[in-house]
Amino acid sequence: MHVTTNDAASGRIAVVTGAGSGLGAAMARQFAGHGMAVGCLDIDEPAALATAASLAEELGVPTTAVRTDVGDAGSVEAAAKHVASTLGGCDLLCANVGVQQFGAIDRLTEDDWRWVLEVNVMGTVRTVREFLPLLRARNGWRHIALTSSSGVLDPSVRLGAYQTSKFAVMGFGETLREELAPEGIGVSIVFPAGMMTRHLESSVLARPADLGESVTMPDDIDAMLGHRTMGADDVVTAEDAISTLLDDLLADEPYVLTHGSYRASYGRRRDAMEAAFDRMEARRGRP
Ligand SMILES: NC(=O)c1ccc[n+]([C@@H]2O[C@H](COP(=O)([O-])OP(=O)(O)OC[C@H]3O[C@@H](n4cnc5c(N)ncnc54)[C@H](O)[C@@H]3O)[C@@H](O)[C@H]2O)c1
Repeated sequence: MHVTTNDAASGRIAVVTGAGSGLGAAMARQFAGHGMAVGCLDIDEPAALATAASLAEELGVPTTAVRTDVGDAGSVEAAAKHVASTLGGCDLLCANVGVQQFGAIDRLTEDDWRWVLEVNVMGTVRTVREFLPLLRARNGWRHIALTSSSGVLDPSVRLGAYQTSKFAVMGFGETLREELAPEGIGVSIVFPAGMMTRHLESSVLARPADLGESVTMPDDIDAMLGHRTMGADDVVTAEDAISTLLDDLLADEPYVLTHGSYRASYGRRRDAMEAAFDRMEARRGRP
């Protein structure tokens, strides 16, 4: 990949959480490929360092890496200070970390719920809170991207804690967009579908030891997949999934879809909501 210069992103500074693997690493590479400096944050320090080093070496952009646990407020605060002192600020923030815990609703434990919500929801909230001052201190194009999931548009089974957390990420993003619009800071919500990443493996590794082992029953994944209508190309590489991400972020698109066959499923929800509007308006005597 060569650096593509002379575009709106070139020379600006991106920060990506979960940049050590999968989608975060693909985002970091795409941004670096457009001439952006990149801060790589991950709880897996060697993985964050590897992403940052490869981008600096192959694409010649400034990079930095810092071990960051988005489940820990102090860790995120320290990461923001590190990025400010090394790269000099932040124009694009991707709060991308999300952990997975499969489980039927009556098998997910209190600890499962707390961990998934703490990392996926509060991790996203505190990442934005700690980096927002850096975006506010910059001029011109500034943007925040939050990683939700296609599960919000096409819910499946055995994913109660995870899907709840990703709905919360969307809710946070909708609020954030309204609040930051007057300041000229855009917000996009990314809804990735199935990707070939280390998601399950890295979630097991990132789970705090005091919560006990992460248990995924053998039939959880089968049940989840069986609930969905899957197309032939519904699981792709992270690079393929977000090949046009930066264009959408520069255009300040509120929603970013990556791939997948869930339009009909989402349409059924939209139709049901429209029908609820119709019933409500009929009841209240409005057209
Ligand atoms: N893989 C999929 O099919 C899929 C589908 C929809 C949404 N997503 C979402 O995409 C995002 C990226 O997932 P991925 O598939 O690239 O997974 P991945 O496991 O390949 O990458 C996630 C990275 O986050 C890091 N991480 C985990 N806990 C952390 C913490 N507490 N603090 C900081 N870093 C932490 C991991 O070390 C890992 O490097 C997640 O939000 C996930 O929920 C993934």
